Amino acid sequence: MVVFGTRPEAIKMAPVIRALRQKAEILCQVTVTAQHREMLDQVLELFKIVPDFDLNLMKQGQTLTDITTRVLCGLREVFQRELPDLILVHGDTTTTFVAALAAFYAQIPVGHIEAGLRTGNKYSPFPEEMNRKLATVLTDLHFAPTETAKKNLLLEGVEPEKIFVTGNTVIDALLSTMKPEYGFHDPHIQQILEQGKELRMILVTTHRRENLGEPMRQIYQALRSTLEMFPDTYVIFPVHKNPKVRKVVTEILGSHPRVNLVEPLDYEPFVNLMARSHLILTDSGGIQEEAPSLGIPVLVVRDTTERPEAVGAGTVSLVGTEYDSVFMEMKRLLSDQNAYKKMSMACNPYGDGCAADRIAEIISGKRV
Ligand code: UD1
Ligand code: UDP
Repeated sequence: MVVFGTRPEAIKMAPVIRALRQKAEILCQVTVTAQHREMLDQVLELFKIVPDFDLNLMKQGQTLTDITTRVLCGLREVFQRELPDLILVHGDTTTTFVAALAAFYAQIPVGHIEAGLRTGNKYSPFPEEMNRKLATVLTDLHFAPTETAKKNLLLEGVEPEKIFVTGNTVIDALLSTMKPEYGFHDPHIQQILEQGKELRMILVTTHRRENLGEPMRQIYQALRSTLEMFPDTYVIFPVHKNPKVRKVVTEILGSHPRVNLVEPLDYEPFVNLMARSHLILTDSGGIQEEAPSLGIPVLVVRDTTERPEAVGAGTVSLVGTEYDSVFMEMKRLLSDQNAYKKMSMACNPYGDGCAADRIAEIISGKRV
């Protein structure tokens, strides 16, 4: 049984569900907690996933305690009734950790996909670093995306025979969704692209809990200053549904004539928009993994990253969340062609597009 709750988990689990369903010896059920609602449904629809169970638990302004308790109670019933042989979770959300805990309480083995990413800082990203560590100690099969992630698990005492380096399934999802000649169907996006066709597009997303409030304010102020300094740039910003994000974004960027605030985009237009952008400014985990293989430079507005591979390769730069550092780095990349060129070398440290098949193969060969 595959369990997930948010947009990025759904994107990265979709290839795994597809691969598992191609195996005659596996019956793959899907349970969604719906920690996200609209943003989850967008992905379910695109990948044609119809959940067997839907806990439908999202509440506006939910706290970590709300999510934790509701996922734990909701999954108890599903697990007791269905008694799956294996629970598969993904990544580092609260759904991930709590689903692994619920599986432990029901004494069902756990497989953790995208295991082993670490910053080493308990509170950054918050609560994802701890969610991921807690999932690790509850897990029986660890699917690490990279060798670095495997090393992190070994350092924490995970037995080597339980770790499988598979690549990241986000690359499977990306490659199956990217279209070289993609035409944008949404008339609003078409219009924005038409108006901006002579300009350089900066694509922006922000949502991390530790960035809510003052850090986001500083990031958006830096973006405003960048737009003032470079009249040949414009912004497309699909704004996360979190009302705490929306409030500050609208306040600081809402009135700028070259800022386009739009609703979260479906995955297909979003990745194809990434491919057309000049620069990406984000605190997202998944986008840090996708953009390098498209050759688009990414400035990560965070103090830490659990994804050091693309930073090492030079296509991703960690710029923090303070006004000065964000503004200076944007300015450097927009004015220094050599610096820009260096960062836009396509590289793909995260996978070859076959991670999901590997995971399904390993699961089908295992008696866990
Ligand atoms: C969650 C994950 C984070 C992941 C992110 C991906 C946790 C604690 N956080 O953060 O690790 O990176 O998802 O986006 O697991 N909302 C809606 N509709 C939606 C989705 C969200 O209205 O479809 C609003 C709700 O008011 C909700 C709020 O956004 O309360 C925050 O959602 P939540 O899942 O708690 O946190 P995220 O910041 O989305
Ligand atoms: N994404 C999307 N539409 C958007 C913004 C992002 O489909 O409007 C995709 C993006 O390509 C990536 C994933 O959502 O695959 C990242 O989700 P998010 O940033 O919410 O979470 P994180 O990866 O930080 O956990």
